[in-house]
Amino acid sequence: MNIAEQKRAAAAYAVEFVQSGMLIGLGTGTTSQHFVELLGERVRGGLNVVAVATSEATQAQAERAGIPLATLDEAPRLDLTVDGADEISPDLIAIKGGGGALLREKIVASASTVMVVIADESKWVDTLGRFPLPIEVVPFGLTPTRRAVEHAAAEIGCPASAVLRRTSEGHPFVTDGGHLILDLALGRIPEPQALAARLAEIPGVVEHGLFIGLVRRAVIAGPHGIRVEEA
Ligand code: A5P
Repeated sequence: MNIAEQKRAAAAYAVEFVQSGMLIGLGTGTTSQHFVELLGERVRGGLNVVAVATSEATQAQAERAGIPLATLDEAPRLDLTVDGADEISPDLIAIKGGGGALLREKIVASASTVMVVIADESKWVDTLGRFPLPIEVVPFGLTPTRRAVEHAAAEIGCPASAVLRRTSEGHPFVTDGGHLILDLALGRIPEPQALAARLAEIPGVVEHGLFIGLVRRAVIAGPHGIRVEEA
């Protein structure tokens, strides 16, 4: 299987976790798109679920697929969320936010009894950090926030530049919540918990892309098949 086929296979495996009557969180990104498409097929076949989307893009795709949708205020506790990841390590800590949806993704994951990550094998890493860590920040005071983020990285022994994410047209990338993203290219994150704690102390940081203690199960699709990792 190539990478696209691996993403599809992981999504197809996870869609079987969905049972009638469930409240489902829908992730964001290319792997999640496969899941939404496959869930839509099951819904059109009679499966009875209600879903909450983690981004405007996923909301639009789910609407097109005919999946009944609710807000998190209408459905504050979800049974299952299925989402992609940019990296995931054997302790099932993930980096998310490559698509810029990390804040809603983390809120939805935190409101879910079970979060399942679906990913191709390239996302499985021994040590997190090769993928730049996305950090969602408020536009006000961007420069001191960026400096504080870089200081936090240096303090945990991983000095790095925090780079403002831009669109392909060169404009600052704006999240669904109206915030900006700083991408922190750390190389490796030996102590994700320590970094997460430091970032959470910075007032301008809305959320960071480290998902710690949230992922219950990872469905990893490789060239030759699927394996499931449990927390
Ligand atoms: C979206 O903000 C991200 O967290 C995605 O879930 C992550 O970037 C994985 O995306 P792909 O499935 O496209 O690799």
